Amino acid sequence: MGAAAFVWPLISQMNPDASTIAAGAPIEVDLSPIAVGQDIKVFWRGKPIYIMNRTKKQIDEARAVQISSLPDPESDQARVKEGHDNWLVVIGICTHLGCVPLAHEGNYDGFFCPCHGSQYDSSGRIRQGPAPANLPIPPYKFVSDTKVQIG
Ligand code: FES
Repeated sequence: MGAAAFVWPLISQMNPDASTIAAGAPIEVDLSPIAVGQDIKVFWRGKPIYIMNRTKKQIDEARAVQISSLPDPESDQARVKEGHDNWLVVIGICTHLGCVPLAHEGNYDGFFCPCHGSQYDSSGRIRQGPAPANLPIPPYKFVSDTKVQIG
């Protein structure tokens, strides 16, 4: 019992506290509760990060578009990790004036910014409206099939 009481403080010290996370420590996110077609929003360095488990339809639509026709040309493949093509991870800050776009809204089954009407597709690429650039991709990697590390 004494040993158990001793171990807990060590474990809790190994988790970064809120101020460490705010300063930029990487965060790990378990993807297993996110069903196909759903998304979650987490915070990293004080920024909202959308993690979307895209449907096949969303992926197909993102890949069917002619890249040269995009305001900020970028392939969908360049915006996801190979072998994890269903997962879109983007910083949820509109590249116009910094509002937080809404997921699964707008004409492209991606993101809609209610501030001035920018529309992003299911790859987070700007398609319509005043925003000049795609939603940025944060640094992240898969540490397992069901877990990503952001930062
Ligand atoms: S801040 Fe998003 S459209 Fe203006």
